[in-house]
Amino acid sequence: MHDILKDLNWRYATKKFDSTKIISPENLDIIKESLRLVPTSYGLQPLKFIIVDSKEIREQLKPISYNQTQVVDASHLIIICCFQNTTDAHIDDFVSNISSTRKVKIESIQGYSDYMKSTINGMNQQDIMHWNKNQAYIALGQLLHTCASLKIDATPMEGFNPQEYDKLLNLTEKNLHASLVVPIGYRHEEDSAQHQQKVRKSQNDLFITI
Ligand SMILES: Cc1cc2nc3c(=O)[nH]c(=O)nc-3n(C[C@H](O)[C@H](O)[C@H](O)COP(=O)(O)O)c2cc1C
Repeated sequence: MHDILKDLNWRYATKKFDSTKIISPENLDIIKESLRLVPTSYGLQPLKFIIVDSKEIREQLKPISYNQTQVVDASHLIIICCFQNTTDAHIDDFVSNISSTRKVKIESIQGYSDYMKSTINGMNQQDIMHWNKNQAYIALGQLLHTCASLKIDATPMEGFNPQEYDKLLNLTEKNLHASLVVPIGYRHEEDSAQHQQKVRKSQNDLFITI
């Protein structure tokens, strides 16, 4: 079996973490770099990743995460946040980054900048947030695969109260919204979920060739 498929079969949504096992700084850095490299629409990266170290905060997050113990027990807790709004200033920052990274004059990418601004200014804030939230799911997919390649366990989680997260972590005032929660670390040997067969549709069911 190809290593990619071995990794994807190895991973599972971990239900119980071994709280004594901690991800090394080197591996954490690979995970952060993987998240930095996530592709997004236009390349705007309307995302922020909060790594919650504090056990005290994690204990406060547990009851607003349907008491899922992974939030506290995992080595690290990543909250994938999206921007509530994307403004002209974000686009200006992005264009300035393109200019300095690729050593091109701002004027040469003015058309691209104007195009992005007119598209985004034509959307209402709810649609922008919905669009930004979609980008969080791209980050989730990449994060899960990167962790699996490193033999690090992870739980993709929508089972939490985003409004309560926003309130507790003062996210709204930072133009952020908690989109997804991903505890990462190492599976507990008693986690029975690791032995369960993967339930997936067949390729025949899933693919249409035309
Ligand atoms: C977006 C998303 C949200 C999820 N939310 C939760 C969650 O809150 N708690 C949990 O234990 N599992 C959660 N899951 C895990 C899924 O139930 C699991 O990925 C699916 O059943 C497939 O199983 P596998 O990941 O073990 O292969 C979530 C998965 C995804 C992709």
